[in-house]
Amino acid sequence: MERVYNFSAGPSMLPMPVLEKAAAEMICYGDSGMSVMEMSHRSPVYEKIIADAEALLRKVMNVPDNYKVLFLQGGASTQFAAVPLNLLNGSGKADYILSGQFSSKAYKEAQKYGDVKAVASSKDANFSFVPKTTREDFRPDADYVHICFNNTIYGTKFPYIPDTGDIPLVADFSSCILSEPVDISKFGLIYAGAQKNMAPAGLTVVIVREDLIGKARESTPTMLDYKVMADNDSMYNTPPCYCIYVAKLVYEWIESIGGLTEMKKMNEKKAKLLYDYLDSQDYYIAPVQKESRSMMNVTFVTGDADLDKKFAAEAGAKGLKNLKGHRSVGGMRASIYNAMPYEGVEALVAFMKEFAANNPKK
Ligand SMILES: Cc1ncc(COP(=O)(O)O)c(C=O)c1O
Repeated sequence: MERVYNFSAGPSMLPMPVLEKAAAEMICYGDSGMSVMEMSHRSPVYEKIIADAEALLRKVMNVPDNYKVLFLQGGASTQFAAVPLNLLNGSGKADYILSGQFSSKAYKEAQKYGDVKAVASSKDANFSFVPKTTREDFRPDADYVHICFNNTIYGTKFPYIPDTGDIPLVADFSSCILSEPVDISKFGLIYAGAQKNMAPAGLTVVIVREDLIGKARESTPTMLDYKVMADNDSMYNTPPCYCIYVAKLVYEWIESIGGLTEMKKMNEKKAKLLYDYLDSQDYYIAPVQKESRSMMNVTFVTGDADLDKKFAAEAGAKGLKNLKGHRSVGGMRASIYNAMPYEGVEALVAFMKEFAANNPKK
């Protein structure tokens, strides 16, 4: 069977060279005589895999020396609780910007642990843009400010990094990590589920400034305490071994194509092709305000729920899979992460033109 163009929001496509290398090494990794899946995480061969993965991620993302990189489990959703448990321990106040469903979930979870305030929200506009903030919007004694940098469901992205002064900025990067260079020093903590741009589901990466570690409240579950994980090099317990191995292959692939600067150029080119088409016609509507458009998740509707359904079904039959929008918003969403080739977006635009011509609106 031929491979399809998979526009899924996650888990999503992995780069072909990564799949090929993983396939070649599936049964016997190096001269170990076993698969990475079967290996003890305490074996020297695996210890090298995880150490190499961390070193490569640090290199690719240019992670400053005073940040720890943690390979964890539980998905980004577990970080919705881990962040307040570890960080909400000074004034007990945290400020959240609500720009979509995941930041709203993170906000709700954090409310269990302290005085948590929504300082800005675009909910009234169906999250079609990212709210603007200035330093004055945040409580000066807040322990941290939380944002979701790319909103997977609505197809928006922060067009700016909020100025929070000395307050640590915490950001959910699940659907945009590794898509472009990021100045990590502007953030206190970044977290991301791996299943969009990094690896199979099961791995969550946390990049956290060292001075924010070691302040978890007493009741924090051991597994959620960043200090425990940092002190044990992410191996307090069995880590998601195979996911970390695939993540390493993805980091190698990004390096091989020229790093995040090149990755960004490729992603911009793909997104431009799709947005330029959307802006050039009036059959499809792109609901997101231009300034807040995501480079990774592109949302659009026909304005007719039946046509939207037909679109996703016919596209799927032609090998353009998973274009149905999130169940909470409907319409269509094309997730064009790092591994989606330019040709996949070309094929999508060609199909969009064909569909519009064949299905005039009443
Ligand atoms: C931006 C963002 N945050 C959080 C999540 C939740 O991630 P997980 O399923 O890894 O818990 C997702 C999942 O799609 C996401 O896109």
